[in-house]
Amino acid sequence: MEENIETLQKSGRVIHPPAELKAQAYIQDYDKAYKESIADPEKFWDGIAKELHWFSPWHTILEWNYPWAKWFLGGTCNISYNCLDRHVQSPRKNKVAVIWVGENGEERIFTYAELYRQVNKCANALKSLGLQKGDRVTIYLPKIPEQIVAMLACARIGLIHSVIYSGFSAPALKSRILDAESKLVITADVGYDRAKTIALKPVVDEAIADCPTVEKVVVVRREKNGPALSSDKEIDWEDWLTGQSTSCEALQLDSETPLYILYTSGTTGKPKGVVHVHGGYMVGTYITTKYVFDLKDEDVYFCVADPGWVTGHSYIVYGPLLNGGTILTAEGKPDYPNPGRWWDLIERYGVSIFYTTPTAIRLLMKYGEEWPGKYDLSSLRILGSVGEPINPEAWEWFYRVTGSSKPIMDTWWQTETGSILVTPLPCVPLKPGSATRPFLGIEADVVDREGKSIAQGGGFAVIKKPWPSMMRTIHNDPDRYLLYWNTIPGCYTAGDVCHKDEDGYLWFMGRADDVVKVAGNRIGTAEVESALVSHEAVVEAAVIGKPHKTAGEMIKAFVILKQGHTETPDMIKHLQDHVLQELGKIAVPKEVEIVSSLPKTRSGKIMRRVLKAKELGQDPGDISTLDE
Ligand code: WTA
Repeated sequence: MEENIETLQKSGRVIHPPAELKAQAYIQDYDKAYKESIADPEKFWDGIAKELHWFSPWHTILEWNYPWAKWFLGGTCNISYNCLDRHVQSPRKNKVAVIWVGENGEERIFTYAELYRQVNKCANALKSLGLQKGDRVTIYLPKIPEQIVAMLACARIGLIHSVIYSGFSAPALKSRILDAESKLVITADVGYDRAKTIALKPVVDEAIADCPTVEKVVVVRREKNGPALSSDKEIDWEDWLTGQSTSCEALQLDSETPLYILYTSGTTGKPKGVVHVHGGYMVGTYITTKYVFDLKDEDVYFCVADPGWVTGHSYIVYGPLLNGGTILTAEGKPDYPNPGRWWDLIERYGVSIFYTTPTAIRLLMKYGEEWPGKYDLSSLRILGSVGEPINPEAWEWFYRVTGSSKPIMDTWWQTETGSILVTPLPCVPLKPGSATRPFLGIEADVVDREGKSIAQGGGFAVIKKPWPSMMRTIHNDPDRYLLYWNTIPGCYTAGDVCHKDEDGYLWFMGRADDVVKVAGNRIGTAEVESALVSHEAVVEAAVIGKPHKTAGEMIKAFVILKQGHTETPDMIKHLQDHVLQELGKIAVPKEVEIVSSLPKTRSGKIMRRVLKAKELGQDPGDISTLDE
């Protein structure tokens, strides 16, 4: 494998940061700051944590019982207090916190004071339902401000939110509600996608039909003549908040109190509920937002993620609000109503920091440079990319169309890591396609299977020491948590393959396991396989990721039909529709091939690696375990 990675690598040009940008950045000498930070990481994190508000101080910075970490022991805090109260008590009180733009052009603006009032009302409304600290709340909303309000309101009173991306179908939503044992679901009547109305409420109705823990469903109603609320389980969001007090004290929580569960895909069919906590997560998202994007009070920060994914949690909601930033968030797709959509928003709101994804950049590339060329993008200062490797071609395009002077922060991290771990800072020389160097306080490395550091070349991405925003466990499945730290001795294994170049720069190459990144969305091949085999005509299925020009990767499924079922043009469509019903649009295989057998080991395990090599016309490598 190591050789494979080698041949993929091309170190291109080096781009030095503009002097002016560097001169005003929080961190101006990365090497010095990094060296200091890892000489004593606990001291480094201790200093950062002190920039935030704690109701009472910690007595121990880190308790490390390999592989279980606790940070800031004895300290009490509340992430919602740090996102809101701290600013409301300062001159930032009337500063804009969130600018939201709907797909239809509707605009809603929240100052810190207004967001604070809304969150408090929502927290009081949550209390009115009798919810108690530690209870779980599932938030299944489109990208609307209520999503942010609900998250912060839960945090405020110690409820654990579980935000589910609104593109998931009823069975996928149901399994996540069941795993979290949520008492409340917050949803909306509809979402909008390219002017189409997507009904969400019926999805929730179907999902909760057998979820015994769900007591109430709150519905944000966007449509004038939307569905009436029927059962006494259902509450209208507006009614729910009306009359609630605009003050609600933030609970003083132990630093290790769970903040949220976020489900993500792994190598089995069952999604993993990654658990993050108030204290450490707050420290990690705060400082990475500040240093990576050099976020200042004058900035307008635009992150295109959806709070349904971790980027939305950490870099729309928590990180930017912890810093008192002004956040722009927009519903809808980058090319609707036209491919100038995001460039227009950048011009209109004077966006200075723009954090997007390689898939979106590649999509916009297809429409040509004339689209960004129509707009004034001079307000931009810093760019960001996340979620998948960015190919140098897309990197160069993004750099060029935005003026060839705004550095791109290619940020590498995961749902599990909570915050960015490998990334340039604005003072770091860039190499297009490389996420460059570890963030301060983070010991990231490339190692072989035994955990031996690779001086230069390809291997596995690992983190060698605990960091504050790391996940604390997998909900209901601590054994799965252990796997991250037991795969390669002494390290947290990210599951990514990575190349280290002659300057120590890291080049992330994709997953080493059975996880596919389709348009930056993380999908487990096992989840798609189990969706396929739940179809009556399917006896066996194997799913692989295949390179795709825009989405980075696409899903291809190989399917064996049961006797009596034959391949018809309709059959492929049926199977795709079935995955749509079971999981949602993002998981639908673009290609389905009916086959009569699958390559397996003698013990019966499907060798996806062999399928993939064959599909891509590559050498399958060692096939000694392949059954004849
Ligand atoms: C991939 C998203 C290359 C990687 C924040 C990782 C990246 C997975 C980058 C986590 C990047 C994320 N360059 N690959 N800058 N950022 N990845 O949990 O494979 O949705 O393991 O978190 O995305 O995906 P997740």
